[in-house]
Amino acid sequence: MIIMAKKIDINLILKNASKSEEERTLSLFDLSILGIGAIIGTGILVLTGIVSATEAGPGVVYSFLIAAVASGLIGLCYSELTTSMPNSGSAYIYAYVSLGQVGGFFAGWSLIGVYVTTTATVANGWTGYLNSFLKEIHINLPGSLLASPFVGGIMNLPAIIMIVLITFVLTRGTSESKWINNILVIIKLLVILTFIGVAMFDVNTANWHPFTPFGASGIFTGASTVFFTFLGFDALATSAEDAKNVNRNLPRAILISLVVCTTLYIIVSLVMTGVVKYTMLNVPESMSFVLLNKGHVMASQIVAAGAVLGIMAVVYAFIYAGSNIMKAMGRGGFLPKSWAALNGHTQSPNTALWINGLLAAVLAGFLDIKSLAIIANVGSLTVFALISLIVIVLRKQQPDLKRPFKIPLGSVIPALSVLVCLFLLVNIQLNAWLTYFAWLVIGFIIYFSYSVRHIDAEQNG
Ligand code: ALA
Repeated sequence: MIIMAKKIDINLILKNASKSEEERTLSLFDLSILGIGAIIGTGILVLTGIVSATEAGPGVVYSFLIAAVASGLIGLCYSELTTSMPNSGSAYIYAYVSLGQVGGFFAGWSLIGVYVTTTATVANGWTGYLNSFLKEIHINLPGSLLASPFVGGIMNLPAIIMIVLITFVLTRGTSESKWINNILVIIKLLVILTFIGVAMFDVNTANWHPFTPFGASGIFTGASTVFFTFLGFDALATSAEDAKNVNRNLPRAILISLVVCTTLYIIVSLVMTGVVKYTMLNVPESMSFVLLNKGHVMASQIVAAGAVLGIMAVVYAFIYAGSNIMKAMGRGGFLPKSWAALNGHTQSPNTALWINGLLAAVLAGFLDIKSLAIIANVGSLTVFALISLIVIVLRKQQPDLKRPFKIPLGSVIPALSVLVCLFLLVNIQLNAWLTYFAWLVIGFIIYFSYSVRHIDAEQNG
């Protein structure tokens, strides 16, 4: 029991974490692009339509606002922790410092699960736009290879192939592939702006009545689902080690990404539900669908093509983030050390990258999008509640820790953040909880059969 509660000395983290300023490659612009790249993806392109049709109606706008406020509160908590302990292990390290070994393992393992399921969700949704794009140029793929067994197919083969390709790009090293990511993010923003620019002229305000057909409960359930669309701001925290001028740039990048994305999400959902009746939006490629519905064939093709390219940026960011956590946990002996090994040439953790990529590929190929998104939400909201709690705990445990960014108003914001996470968690279905628990059981088998004998605090950071 004593060992399991053993905390890592915070000074070790601070000592090992400090990369020199020259070794850091990510500027405020790069970080914001990385954040926006991780945030905008399958969520807005696929889930918005489905949630409007089945959970919230046009009132999905309110769901987005609730999820955005939650993400903002959590983002502030992340910023305080990550600027005082810049470390790519993120939640794993914060929990290890404040709660001990088991807490650290629980947070890190959950986060790996979250990043893997998020990658899988995003790739799974990507296939809808790929199919829509290919159909428009008269290429018809066999339906059984586009859908998982849960939705009547054999497997989602394009999603599997795409994840494997992105993982390969990442194994070439992050600085080399940064420019590819930047281009993909710009394409994704153009997709959304094209959709808004073309479809806004077809808005018929009659479609917004009733605005909240499912009442307040629909808005809240919708908020728990669309929370997925904001996942990614936290992935930025895992880049702390590579961020230039981290104290200033990281909190700013998190807030910039959230403000940009929330604004776009709200406009997109208003336009979508204004152009067609929300009841028609239960389709995987809602943006293309809405455009085609009004005869904008060309714009629909541009959106589908751009979505196909742009969504890949999200997969890129999440495999990168997941491998960073795995690398940090491997270094500390929680997971096999070989998983943390860096490739001599590219300095990328190739084993960790492949483990994350291949796990995600299997899930994307064989599960369905809604289940995957909700599982990712359970895991992430649990970790985020923990992160927010840790801000409060750490202020008591380490009052003298240098906090370059300290959230104002004492414990009010972290406490609110915990409450909002719990509120969103309450609205999530039991199935998703069970899957998350199954992942935790696997984790704790690893912890008790491997980690307890190999944990080496000296190697962390
Ligand atoms: N927020 C990311 C997306 O919506 C995960 O695709």
